[in-house]
Amino acid sequence: MKILVTGGLGFIGSHTVVELQNEGFEVVIIDNLSNSSEDVLDGIEAITGIRPIFEKFDLRDKSDVQDFFKRHADLEGVIHFAASKAVGESVDKPLLYYENNLGVLVYMLQELTKMDKANFIFSSSCTVYGQADELPITEDAPVKPAESPYGNTKQIGEEIIRDTCKISPQLAAIALRYFNPIGAHPSVEIGELPLGIPQNLVPFITQTAVGLREQLSVFGDDYPTNDGTCIRDYIHVVDVAKAHVVALQRLLNQKNEGNYEVFNLGTGTGSSVLEVIHSFERVSGEKLNYKIVDRRPGDVIKAYADTTNANKVLGWKAGSTLDDSMKSAWDWERKVRG
Ligand code: WQD
Repeated sequence: MKILVTGGLGFIGSHTVVELQNEGFEVVIIDNLSNSSEDVLDGIEAITGIRPIFEKFDLRDKSDVQDFFKRHADLEGVIHFAASKAVGESVDKPLLYYENNLGVLVYMLQELTKMDKANFIFSSSCTVYGQADELPITEDAPVKPAESPYGNTKQIGEEIIRDTCKISPQLAAIALRYFNPIGAHPSVEIGELPLGIPQNLVPFITQTAVGLREQLSVFGDDYPTNDGTCIRDYIHVVDVAKAHVVALQRLLNQKNEGNYEVFNLGTGTGSSVLEVIHSFERVSGEKLNYKIVDRRPGDVIKAYADTTNANKVLGWKAGSTLDDSMKSAWDWERKVRG
């Protein structure tokens, strides 16, 4: 069975390609390399022994998208990762985000709805919840007004898919709302490759420890939490990748209820910034150089998933601990920078 993975050379995309290949799927990757490298193909092949088919083009080119689907009429499913994902950048460049994250989604759905049967997995985010009123967060928690154009593209993207599914019974879709994916494949052949200064906590921790960054700034320790720092649900990227295969198989085996479903992908456990730092120090044996600074605008205080739906309905559960994830992130950082 041939599966298209857009953004398949990216962080979560590449780990998902590995898990798809492990399950015997034939994978075609489309990636414009704007936030990834073609070398990732070597890493995937080193793990699975199979080099995915790779087509380099920008999905914003509608004619290229149409041409691709003509040439791959035998696709059984699409997992759509390709999108811009930097919250801060989206505030400065909203039209780039609306074009790349929503215009492209429309082109994909226009092609998928021409097929007799289409299975579609959408990369969404816990960002849609904003600061949830109740914790842990369930999938029917209210979607809050987005704090950034990036978050808005995830909310609107889900609505576009839901509305399309309503009039397209031949389309079956699942939106997966990631909490905070971290870590790297245990083989140390693929991992996170942030371009420039990392915006996210874990790559900044590992880059500080390996000497690439001077010091980690902890954005505030005066929040109403146990140790004053923000709480998130950090989930191993391989667990997230495996969830995509489970979700795709649910659609392929027509086990889905209705043709549009949403699942949270988290561990169900919240960890504070300081707990993540202490986990890193435990697994690495390194003392991390950090300082407490002012809060980062837009940060929510606490976010962690209610995983009941994913565990019971999707039949998936995260298997790795925070220490497992931090150890894999550290192993990867040392390999890349070592
Ligand atoms: C986590 C915590 C920071 C960096 C982002 C996106 C979200 C999703 C996941 C795509 C926060 C603190 C961070 C640093 C710090 N991505 N922090 N110093 O903000 O929860 O979510 O990634 O879907 O859409 O917004 O992740 O890793 O940026 O921050 O103290 O140098 O670490 O304040 O409390 P976040 P993050």
